[in-house]
Amino acid sequence: MTHITLTKGDITTQHVDAIVNTANSSLLGGGGVDGAIHRGGGPEILAECRALRAAKYGRGLPTGQAVATTAGKLPARWVIHTVGPVWSASEDRSAALASCYRESLRVADELGARTVAFPAVSTGVYGWPMDDGARIAVRTVRETDTSVDEVRFVLFDDAAYQAFTDAMS
Ligand code: APR
Repeated sequence: MTHITLTKGDITTQHVDAIVNTANSSLLGGGGVDGAIHRGGGPEILAECRALRAAKYGRGLPTGQAVATTAGKLPARWVIHTVGPVWSASEDRSAALASCYRESLRVADELGARTVAFPAVSTGVYGWPMDDGARIAVRTVRETDTSVDEVRFVLFDDAAYQAFTDAMS
């Protein structure tokens, strides 16, 4: 049974087996969580991302998929990079967002990671409304069969923390 916990803070400081990065398809870094992870983890992460691009993801990591690299200098052992969907008012992309959580847990199981920290995927630069993003995150983790013991949602501000608290109840 996977235990879900909420914490307010910075995902780069979490002492878990794997932290999830809200990447973009290039896997070459960006702002937000992506920027913080690459800044804190150091060049090893980018080097492994480039190798993944060269080996398997020549056209970039598709939305909804996940891949793992080292976490470099961060306390975690791995970074699981996933590409969230950009929010659209005209198209329901909820399935792609759910896939980010499901696929990240699948990769975590492949790694043997037992504790995984997620940020609120797509709710920053990609514009997904926080309350809906929280609902999809909590529902998908609860529905996914995984060997992960703890899923920790790491929320960056009070509003996000409240949205996930509401989604949990
Ligand atoms: N720790 C935890 N959460 C964070 C942190 C952090 N250090 N920094 C930002 N957040 C929160 C944001 O407040 C938001 O709620 O993580 C959520 C996701 O925000 P983004 O990182 O902007 O990710 P996303 O919305 O999925 O956009 C991805 O942004 O940085 C680029 O390269 C990235 O193109 C990609 C896009």
